[in-house]
Amino acid sequence: MPLFFLDKVDSTMNEIKKSKYKNYSNVAILAKQQTNGRGRRKNLWESKKGNLYLSVKLKRKIKSNHHLTTYMVSIIVHDTIKEYLAKNSKIFIKWPNDIYIYNKKVAGILIEFQSSGNKVTEVIIGIGVNINSNPDNLKKSTTHISKYSNFKVKSIDLTESILSRIDYWTKLLSNNKKIILKEWMSRSKQLNTGIKFYYKNKKMIGIYKGIQEDGSIKVMIEDKINNFFNLEMA
Ligand code: BTN
Repeated sequence: MPLFFLDKVDSTMNEIKKSKYKNYSNVAILAKQQTNGRGRRKNLWESKKGNLYLSVKLKRKIKSNHHLTTYMVSIIVHDTIKEYLAKNSKIFIKWPNDIYIYNKKVAGILIEFQSSGNKVTEVIIGIGVNINSNPDNLKKSTTHISKYSNFKVKSIDLTESILSRIDYWTKLLSNNKKIILKEWMSRSKQLNTGIKFYYKNKKMIGIYKGIQEDGSIKVMIEDKINNFFNLEMA
């Protein structure tokens, strides 16, 4: 798929929606820097030079199982980053799609759907990966890849690796959602460990019990299993 490499944009998510890219069914935009990068839940995504800021538009590749796109992308980003880490470094996915090295967030994913009527026409995937630096002013602990890598990590190489995996995984997603869930679980944070999250504005602790076919997360709170679609992790 065509890849545009830009110096500075407000957000690759906005850039990719511009009319100049509308004739591309599938297209990717990689920026060196963003002035207004955004994360999930309207958070800002600090976007200094030296890290990866990528958006990918997929028009016809994802035909069904849209709710599992986020799981598919987190598998792709997890596997790409893993290739660069020193052997035995601990990397895992934390629900729904954050990538962690040890207990620190290294990458985040934002998915936006464009639709017409009730039909999804385009999926826009935003990926931010900390390569050479990470923000140190957040409540969450964060880290960056070069700390755990013996190679010089370049955003263009990570991008090529991410894009090259998309074909394989989009085919799997269309044909077999059970495989996506199984593959996601095998890379997930360990089951039966504690998770902290916000529920009705209260910070709570529960036991992580995995995910469901509908995309929700299972959490045990005071001996009862609950399913959540939209939980804010602490
Ligand atoms: C999150 O974990 O909150 C998701 C972060 C997503 C950040 C990426 S960087 C490239 C793309 N452009 C944006 O403005 N956001 C996404």
